[in-house]
Amino acid sequence: MNTSLSLFDKTLTLYQYPKERQHKSWQAWDSADEYIIQHITDNYVLTPNTRLAIFNDEFGALGCWFKDQSIQWVSDSFIAQKAFEQNLALNGFSPQSINYIRSIETLTAPVDFVLLKVPKANALLEQQLIDLQKIVTNNTIVLAAGKAQAIHKSTLALFEKYLGPTTTSLAKKKSRLIFCTPTGDRDHPSPYPTVWKQEQTNYTIHNLANVFSRQQLDIGARFFLQHIPSCHNLDVIDLGCGNGVIGLNVLAQGDINSLEFVDESTMAIESARLNVQRNMPEQEQLCTFTAGNCLAHIKQAKAGLVLCNPPFHQQNTITEHIAKQMFSDAKRALRPRGELRIVCNRHLGYFNVLKKHFGNCRVVASNKKFSILSAIKKG
Ligand SMILES: C[S@@+](CC[C@H](N)C(=O)[O-])C[C@H]1O[C@@H](n2cnc3c(N)ncnc32)[C@H](O)[C@@H]1O
Repeated sequence: MNTSLSLFDKTLTLYQYPKERQHKSWQAWDSADEYIIQHITDNYVLTPNTRLAIFNDEFGALGCWFKDQSIQWVSDSFIAQKAFEQNLALNGFSPQSINYIRSIETLTAPVDFVLLKVPKANALLEQQLIDLQKIVTNNTIVLAAGKAQAIHKSTLALFEKYLGPTTTSLAKKKSRLIFCTPTGDRDHPSPYPTVWKQEQTNYTIHNLANVFSRQQLDIGARFFLQHIPSCHNLDVIDLGCGNGVIGLNVLAQGDINSLEFVDESTMAIESARLNVQRNMPEQEQLCTFTAGNCLAHIKQAKAGLVLCNPPFHQQNTITEHIAKQMFSDAKRALRPRGELRIVCNRHLGYFNVLKKHFGNCRVVASNKKFSILSAIKKG
């Protein structure tokens, strides 16, 4: 397992989050992080007063490296922030000057450098460039980086449109740098949230930039919505809620006890909140909205029903480990005889995973692509 990032005269110990669950093939930084660090170190002298805005630093490698500068550290991910905090502590750092900015919050102007890891979702990049319009000047150095294969003409066009002239470097270890020179006078409005109407209902679904299935109802979610059980008097959890469309349809039943929306994306949680406020404001007092890692924050076995359309990937890594974590956390959060109900691709083999965790599993429904599975916590 490679957990030591050594460059120039410095070595950092870096783990993904949580450290104990890092697979031996995973690493908490990539060649794009190294490229950024090398370029900055080779070309600039930074002082403690240098003001950096760091975006999408997945596990805090850049934040740890530049911890002696004045940092606004911007992320949409709860897990990324926890990874950063964990890695600061692992290296014995307790920096004075880090300001954590959630993706929906406003940055403070001015900044000297913007260091941005190109995110998976173009829409998130677009929103971040729109946010940057307000804080960059024509003196700000904007340096972005990502896997060469993820940097397209359309990626560069976003930098050109929202900030100013943009060029790229040669690829090095499969990553490229993007150099952008802001003109400092752009003021394009944001196209987000995207809004669509849920078919056969009057609900308008609002989606901030980084939300799953931002432009339409996910086909797995559509099938799931046909098989939501009665939630009468139950404490329900919408786990991995995205825009909250599943929970919203639970609220429509009108007789639940409580509903918790949980997601690791701040934009997802804020979209879910917005969707309850816009569509069922009278039910908002039954709801809580939690940015978290699966159900790690839940201490009491109280839920009667956990509903979940689990993710396929965490940031850039395609993985089943989050889904599996969600299932074991759900078991812990359920009261005896409580139910976990999920929708999943048929090929994924989650039937056996649930059977192993819960000792039982039932196929509620299936079609060509998806299965709805139910597991009951033993009494
Ligand atoms: C397949 S989407 C489902 C979204 C929504 N429930 C729907 O059906 O349209 C999975 C969601 O899980 C969230 N997610 C990913 N990793 C997570 C984690 N570790 N803890 C909580 N949520 C997570 C993603 O941000 C995403 O919104």
